Amino acid sequence: MRIDVLTLFPNMFTSPMNESMMWKAKDRQLLDLHLHDIRDYSQDKHRAVDDTPYGGGGGMLLRADVMVRAVESVLPMDEAHPTPPVILMTPQGRVFSHEIARELAQHPRLVIVCSHYEGEDERVRQLVITDEISIGDYVLTGGELAAMVVMDATLRHVGGLLGAEGAELRDSHADGLLEGAHYTRPVVFRGLEVPQVLQAGNHPQIQAWRREQALRRTWERRRDLLRKAKLTEQEKYLLAKFAREDAQRLK
Ligand code: ADE
Repeated sequence: MRIDVLTLFPNMFTSPMNESMMWKAKDRQLLDLHLHDIRDYSQDKHRAVDDTPYGGGGGMLLRADVMVRAVESVLPMDEAHPTPPVILMTPQGRVFSHEIARELAQHPRLVIVCSHYEGEDERVRQLVITDEISIGDYVLTGGELAAMVVMDATLRHVGGLLGAEGAELRDSHADGLLEGAHYTRPVVFRGLEVPQVLQAGNHPQIQAWRREQALRRTWERRRDLLRKAKLTEQEKYLLAKFAREDAQRLK
């Protein structure tokens, strides 16, 4: 997958994109990352990219002419290559999720635009942006950290990155539930023992136990997710049991 990132701070990407999974993605040629400094598209002698807003109100806005020039310079101009999604990182966008990461991973190319200051001239959106993504309901200083979050979560779904074991299928959220607890050696630590079922090694029982743990954890922490998860009759029965246990505890 090729990703072009437009940013005022390309150096922010250097270390995170050269460690761990992101490094592996580049090394295995699953990620072809191109960082572009938005200032290189300024035609001002001071390399200015922003200006004051019409109508007043303080703060500075990224200029439409500079931003559109930057985006258009990275878009393929021939018909053989379809135009990739051009994603603006903004707290006003659709809220990023596991599903959106999977959806983005289907594209051979993405362009990610990191905004800064008070935002950008509205015409940037109108002219070149095709999608807007937020990583949560809070405001970051700029879109760079958000862009890295989106790239990391998306690349987990690009074939081959996580190995053959299908780790992305076991992730929390992959089946609509949070993952349950995991254990490794030592078998007893500070008096806490690895559950017997895991030690016994009966795989159907382990599967059933893990599913119940995932269900219980999702019930305890993110009940909202259960509304969308696909559950069997037996799992619905378990949820009813959790609800009864909660009611007992409150008595
Ligand atoms: N830029 C500033 N805040 C952001 C957020 N929450 N998500 C994406 N981009 C942002």
